Amino acid sequence: MAEEKSVQVEMQAIRQSALDALSRAVDEASLQQWRIAHLGKSAPVMQIFTRIGQFAPEDRPKVGAAANQVKNALEQAYSSRETEIKQASLQQSLEQERLDVTLPGRKPVQGRLHIQTQTMREVYRVFAEMGFQVYRTRDVETDEYNFELLNIPAYHPARDMWDTYYTTKPGVLLRTHTSPGQVHVMRERAPEPIRVILPGMCYRYEQVDARHEIQFTQIEVLAVGRNITFGDLKGTLDNFARRMFGQNVHTRLRPSYFPFTEPSAELDVECFVCGGKGCGVCKGSGWLEILGCGMVHPVVLQNGGYDPREFSGFAAGMGPERISMLRHKIDDIRYFWGNDVRFLEQF
Ligand code: DAH
Repeated sequence: MAEEKSVQVEMQAIRQSALDALSRAVDEASLQQWRIAHLGKSAPVMQIFTRIGQFAPEDRPKVGAAANQVKNALEQAYSSRETEIKQASLQQSLEQERLDVTLPGRKPVQGRLHIQTQTMREVYRVFAEMGFQVYRTRDVETDEYNFELLNIPAYHPARDMWDTYYTTKPGVLLRTHTSPGQVHVMRERAPEPIRVILPGMCYRYEQVDARHEIQFTQIEVLAVGRNITFGDLKGTLDNFARRMFGQNVHTRLRPSYFPFTEPSAELDVECFVCGGKGCGVCKGSGWLEILGCGMVHPVVLQNGGYDPREFSGFAAGMGPERISMLRHKIDDIRYFWGNDVRFLEQF
């Protein structure tokens, strides 16, 4: 017969060594190993139950009860250790994956319109309010439209005003200005009256520097009808200047020369940086040159399909980069088409 007293001692030892081992379990894996070793089928405390029959019948209940006690104690210790370990690992992952909600957020990259798109749309809006339609023509032009039909024959010294990119195909070039669009619209609309603006990219074979680019935008203005006068030109441009630069801005027309207009002029607006007093932007003159203009030359009207004895018209051409540069005090035209986001992001 097995001794009840000695199994009690053995059970205390089982319990103690199991608890010691449990305190060394530091993570989920070692905890599971402990559970198999100390509460599994072949764990020492479980072995006691298989040995119950070896005790005297009157001792059996005591041994069974004591073994149950040890088993329950181990189960309880196991579950509180398990909670501790889970808590610790949660704490650890909270620390490691810590999210500081007080940090400033990351801004999403925001798309925006190019500075020139913004300026040009403003010009479209102003002219739309005066009844002008936007009309687009091609960037690749012929010598005929870019020069000949605009009263600039081959070898005419006025051709020196435009340094031209020619293609390998004879007579085909990149337009040097938006003026050839005038003839396209006239030929399409004659003999209807016309009120359009023609925006687009132009190209010139320039030595690139702060004031010269090989590509830039222009906006051409064209009105053709039966009774169009120089007064209409002046009134329209004045109105444009006031809507674009401010209600009180003064303008002046200076005589000039362009082969496709007669008479020709240039429009200055009062410097909106200094208000006309004279500053660095207007080079002390108090005036800013904004566009070229004039009454459409009879030869050009004729080329467009309008009889100059019955019809007249005015035209103007402006460089919107210049407007943007003056407004935002941009001192180098190369920024516009250089695609440097540090520049583009500012608008
Ligand atoms: N096409 C001219 C240029 O690029 C600008 C211009 C001047 C256009 C007078 C016009 C105009 O329509 O009337 O220099």
